[in-house]
Amino acid sequence: MRTNQLQQHRRRRDMAHFTYSRMSHLLRFSANNASILRTGLERKDAAACCLQLFRCHQRSVDNKTLQERQKQQMARGLPKLKSIPGVKEVIVVASGKGGVGKSTTAVNLALGLMANDTSKSVGLLDADIYGPSIPKLMNLKGNPELTDNNLMIPLTNYGIPCMSMGFLVEDSAPIVWRGLMVMSAMEKLLKQVDWGSVDYLVVDMPPGTGDVQLSITQNVPVAGAVIVSTPQDIALLDARRGAEMFKKVNVPVLGLVQNMSVFQCPNCNHQTHIFGSDGARQLAHTLGVEVLGDIPLHLNIRETSDRGQPVVVSCPDSPEAEAYRKLASSVVRRLQEVNT
Ligand SMILES: Nc1ncnc2c1ncn2[C@@H]1O[C@H](COP(=O)(O)OP(=O)(O)OP(=O)(O)O)[C@@H](O)[C@H]1O
Ligand SMILES: [Mg+2]
Ligand SMILES: [Zn+2]
Repeated sequence: MRTNQLQQHRRRRDMAHFTYSRMSHLLRFSANNASILRTGLERKDAAACCLQLFRCHQRSVDNKTLQERQKQQMARGLPKLKSIPGVKEVIVVASGKGGVGKSTTAVNLALGLMANDTSKSVGLLDADIYGPSIPKLMNLKGNPELTDNNLMIPLTNYGIPCMSMGFLVEDSAPIVWRGLMVMSAMEKLLKQVDWGSVDYLVVDMPPGTGDVQLSITQNVPVAGAVIVSTPQDIALLDARRGAEMFKKVNVPVLGLVQNMSVFQCPNCNHQTHIFGSDGARQLAHTLGVEVLGDIPLHLNIRETSDRGQPVVVSCPDSPEAEAYRKLASSVVRRLQEVNT
C-alpha cells in the first residue's frame, strides 16, 4: 500500500517535471524566435498560460522551488538585449511629435560628433521606415551591397556610413507595410548591417512613441536618448511623453534639444524668440534632465539640409554648425556620466 502511494507520488512528480521542462523549452523557443516586435502583451499571455499549467501540479511539487523556477522562467521570457556587432554606443534621436527636426538634428549630431573628435567613427541609422530622410539629408542614393555572409554594407558620405529603408525601397514605391512586415524590415536594419566598427551609432527615430521605438529599445542596448523638441507647448507635451517612454524602458534620457527656439534673421542677424524663449528649459527642469543644446531656426539649416549638404560640413564656421558641435560634446559628456 505504502509503495503504491510512493509510486503514484513519483509518477505525479515526474509528470510535473516533464510538463515543466516542455514548457520551458517552448518558452525559450519563443524567446529566441519571436519577431523583433514585443509589446509585452504576448509575454503576459505566456505568463498566464504558464501559471495555469503550473496550478495543476502545484500539489506534487514543492511550492517554494516552484516559485523560484517560475521566476527564472519569467526572466527567460523577457526580450534579450543584443548589441549590434561592431557598434559601441547607440544614441537614439527621438521626439513625441513629428516635424520638430529629429532627422536634421540626428545628421548634424553625427557629423558634430566626428568633427569634435576625428578619432571617433560614427554611423547613422534611419529608423523611420515610413518616411526615411537620411538618403536626402546625406545626399545618398543606391542599393547597399552585400557581404559574403549576407550583411548589408552601409552607404557612406561625409565619412559617415548610413543605412536607411530609403536605400532598399524605391522613392516612388508606397511603403504601406504594416505590423510584422515593418518589424522584419526594422530587424534587418538593426541586425543585418555590416557597420564595420563605429563608436557611436546615431539612430534617427520616427515620430511618436510607437512600435518601432519599443522594438529598438527592447532589442538593442541603447546608451542614451536625445529628445528633440520645439518650444511650443503642444510639442513640449509630446516631448514629455517621449522622454517618459524611454525612462520606462530604462533607456537613459541624455537630455533635450531645444530646436528652432530662436529665429535668426539671415539679413541682419537679429534674433526673435518665435515660440517663447524657454519652454524646453522648463520642461527639462520638470523632467529632471538637462538641455543639451539650443539650435536656432535658421534658413541656412533648412537650405543645406534640402541640398543634402548638412550645415556642419557645408558651413563649419557658421554659428549654426557651432550649435550642433556644442550639442555633440554635451551628448558625449552625458554618455560618460550615465556610463559611470
Ligand atoms: N533649426 C532649424 N532651422 C531651420 N529649419 C529646420 C531646423 N530644424 C529642422 N528644420 C527643417 O524643418 C523641417 C523638418 O525637419 P526634420 O525633417 O528634421 O524633422 P523630423 O522631426 O525628422 O520630422 P519627421 O517627424 O517627419 O521625421 C525640415 O524642412 C528641416 O530642414
Ligand atoms: Mg525625420
Ligand atoms: Zn532682419
